[in-house]
Amino acid sequence: MKEKYYYQFKKNLKVEISDIFNRRADTFDALPWVTNREFLGHIFKVIYEFLKNYRKDNIINRIRFLDVGTGTGEVLKYFLEEYPKQGILENAYAEGIDISEKMLKIANKKLSSFEKSQRVTISQQSIYQQDTRKESFDFIICRNSFHHFELIEESLEIMSKILRKNGIILIIEGIAPDQYTLLLWREVLELKDVGRNKNVYLSYDTVRQFFLKYTKNLNLKIIGPIMLTPVPMLVSQWLNNVPFSNKDTKMEEILKTIGRLCKKNDFAGRFGIKRIIKDPLEKQDFKIKKRSALIILKKMGK
Ligand SMILES: C[S@@+](CC[C@H](N)C(=O)[O-])C[C@H]1O[C@@H](n2cnc3c(N)ncnc32)[C@H](O)[C@@H]1O
Repeated sequence: MKEKYYYQFKKNLKVEISDIFNRRADTFDALPWVTNREFLGHIFKVIYEFLKNYRKDNIINRIRFLDVGTGTGEVLKYFLEEYPKQGILENAYAEGIDISEKMLKIANKKLSSFEKSQRVTISQQSIYQQDTRKESFDFIICRNSFHHFELIEESLEIMSKILRKNGIILIIEGIAPDQYTLLLWREVLELKDVGRNKNVYLSYDTVRQFFLKYTKNLNLKIIGPIMLTPVPMLVSQWLNNVPFSNKDTKMEEILKTIGRLCKKNDFAGRFGIKRIIKDPLEKQDFKIKKRSALIILKKMGK
């Protein structure tokens, strides 16, 4: 399995995805959701609750965790800085993997002090190259990287395999509030999300069924979805990070599409979108609350 996927990683779509993120790297941290402390704090509150019980079991002393698609390393940084302050996970060891060299370059800079103290290792690897590392991690986190994985079932199977018994996989994904808004919003995502797996479009209503379907042959219990703190942002900030070749035309097209959708019955209200036009001559923009759901997949003991 390893060689086959490694080959794909080198030869086709994954090269495209890593190239997309190489081009997104410089402006990635300007995306409001990436560094939002409340959003990160909410994710880690969930992990904290899990770890409290996990530690009671006294299974291991040194928690090991893996951040899949670590990007610019913001999740790892928050984790390694904040947790010891709260008196937990002083001995945690973290690994971050990603296929984009430029995203990892930024992560490496951010995390160099932790790397020196051997608390974290960052490497340029794909999820599909991990399958030989049986039962190596206590938890695995995937924030907004899952919808870029080309092979849904295989990626979940590998994550489950490399997890220790009773360990958890945390998948955080952007969602639409419901199926009605998702069906409309999908048009925007299709225009915007270069490098997205076209099978992963999620709403709060359907995210659980989605993971039930793709984990039915795996020994994983699904907990959630947990709705996370929404992050306010401007649509223009969101689009600024996308490496469109014809940026201005594409951004205008997307903004027009959102304007059209907002005229539909209750769409803007349900989605939490507000149109802002400061001056009639200025380009339109929209305030939006980026919603995310967290799904926990717990590896059951036999
Ligand atoms: C939207 S970014 C999220 C970054 C980070 N998780 C965060 O929340 O800030 C998605 C990341 O997933 C990475 N990625 C995509 N496919 C991958 C794969 N097959 N294996 C590992 N990383 C992958 C991309 O290179 C990119 O850096």
